[in-house]
Amino acid sequence: MIKFLIIFYSISLFAETPDWSENARLPEVGHRGNIYELVGDEHKEVIHQGKIHTSSYPVSITGVLLPYEASRRAIEADSKNPIKRWLYKLGQKVLGFTSMDDMYNWVGLSPYNEEDATGVFKIPYPTEDKPDFPMGVTFIERHGAKGLTFGCTACHSTQLFGKTVLGLSNKRTKANDFFLMGQKYAPKVPATIFKLGTGATKGEMKMYRSFQKNLMAIGAVSPLVLGLDTSLAQVALSLSKRNQDEYATHNKKLQKRPRPNALSHTPADSKPGVWWNLKYKTRWLRDGSIVSGNPILTNFLWNEIGRGTDLKDLEKWMKNNSKIIKELTAAVFSIEAPRWTDFFPADSLDLEAAKRGQAHFKTSCVKCHGGYEKAWDLPNAEELTLEEKLKTTKVKYAKKTKVKDVGTDPLRWQGMKHFSEDLNRLAISKWMETKVVPQKGYVPPPLVGVWSRYPYFHNNSAPSLCDVLTKPSERTVIFYQGPADDPETDFDSECVGYPTGRDIPESWYQDKEAKFDTRRKGLSNKGHSRMFLNADGSEKFSPVEKKELIMFLKTL
Ligand code: HEC
Ligand code: HEC
Repeated sequence: MIKFLIIFYSISLFAETPDWSENARLPEVGHRGNIYELVGDEHKEVIHQGKIHTSSYPVSITGVLLPYEASRRAIEADSKNPIKRWLYKLGQKVLGFTSMDDMYNWVGLSPYNEEDATGVFKIPYPTEDKPDFPMGVTFIERHGAKGLTFGCTACHSTQLFGKTVLGLSNKRTKANDFFLMGQKYAPKVPATIFKLGTGATKGEMKMYRSFQKNLMAIGAVSPLVLGLDTSLAQVALSLSKRNQDEYATHNKKLQKRPRPNALSHTPADSKPGVWWNLKYKTRWLRDGSIVSGNPILTNFLWNEIGRGTDLKDLEKWMKNNSKIIKELTAAVFSIEAPRWTDFFPADSLDLEAAKRGQAHFKTSCVKCHGGYEKAWDLPNAEELTLEEKLKTTKVKYAKKTKVKDVGTDPLRWQGMKHFSEDLNRLAISKWMETKVVPQKGYVPPPLVGVWSRYPYFHNNSAPSLCDVLTKPSERTVIFYQGPADDPETDFDSECVGYPTGRDIPESWYQDKEAKFDTRRKGLSNKGHSRMFLNADGSEKFSPVEKKELIMFLKTL
């Protein structure tokens, strides 16, 4: 039986190859939630394994591995030994933390949910029992030593009112800053000092030296504000430190004097799109600029360029690990959105208002954001509970993903042109059949689970749905992005998003990184207004109609 299963499994590994080409169209069912068309237990097992890879980074050849035990000793162990003491103080000064847990908190990692979690909150553990470290922490064995790195969920999961949501962009990640910090710390600590101060083993020293070496090949910039990400710049600036050959080989001279690239001084920050939308899309990234290829491979490539990895090693790894790639791909395409009713009682929603909102949505929003069929319109709706009536039964999104310029901040889509050629030139891009074509505008995203992914737009510039539906000249100018702990104080459930103005919790003002000023370059909150304005600039929807529209959006 086991033998049979193994044969079955390895055959079907190559059975359905998804259409990753530029001509890909969504199938009749309207989504690719089961991208390899797997069945039964095999489907479940593949997704289970894939979800583990989302937290436990599977790319074993990754460029930046921190020798775990030695680093822990350097950060945590105060001592009379002068070298150890110096390392400890340096850690406090440069890094600002004195334990690994502090570091994980600082990176903004989310905790694993409890074992009894259900539905979208059931996230498998990489270990037998609930790990004592947060999601994203990954240990990789190399040279007989334990190396630490971070996985996809460092950026692609977040805590919302006490539960971790897989696939929702991390509202508080500092993953990019982690590399900048490494670049500040590592040159100050030569290998000999590291060895004397931490008692690192031979294997750990090998790991530390390659950590130092690969850090030199990384170009990183800090995000403009908490919640945004500078992966575009990290890839562009890292490539500008490498040769322009087809493996972007390392070049020590360029590491010191990189080719100039606009993304060193022009922001192109964005936040990751939610994973549960992948199944509705045929091209990738906020601007739809990745027009072909498996987006998971593209992500490995981006992550590894940003970690200083040798791209020949990466290509070899990809060619030898199709099972892992398939599992991870199947998992991220299968992710489902959290629903309003997973957090709040169904009767906090007004069904009749939502139905009226649906009508407004049909006239003004469907053509870009797709249609959402609701269970309340089913012939047997009368027999359903309120919670069942609120469900979406079908998403009818464009068969081929569109890109539209609606006047939102252009820097992110413009940013792509500063490194698309460097990416397209790579042998690995050709092998992956990934092509980058800079665009003008952004993908109007499917609005499933939209209530949970505030603040809105690619650059987070609208704190709530009320703001999205307000004329740009009257939108919130400055807001704060506090943690989403208490839904009573940390969430505006009527406007759906961050509390603004007088409702901002007092403690949020202390966190300078959380202050969002929409007047800054790259953080503009303009655009996306024509769809709810009449030709004379007056508003199409009354305040009551806007509330109805928001009520409908809450049910998606
Ligand atoms: C450092 C943070 C970070 C990490 C780590 C990271 N991502 Fe992302 N990811 C992003 C950002 C930022 C974007 C969106 C950039 C944009 O479109 O402007 C993104 C976009 C994506 C997209 C495209 C989404 C869409 O709607 O088209 C996919 C798929 C994805 N990531 C998967 C992964 C996987 C799988 C991993 C782990 C192998 C990973 N990411 C690791 C930051 C990250
Ligand atoms: C012409 C196409 C178009 C129309 C019509 C349109 N939108 Fe959008 N919408 C977009 C684009 C493009 C974006 C992404 C903009 C960005 O990220 O900068 C967007 C973003 C959004 C977002 C933010 C999503 C997120 O995850 O951040 C919301 C909410 C939204 N639209 C709601 C609506 C509503 C409600 C309507 C109808 C009143 C509407 N849109 C009509 C194109 C459109």
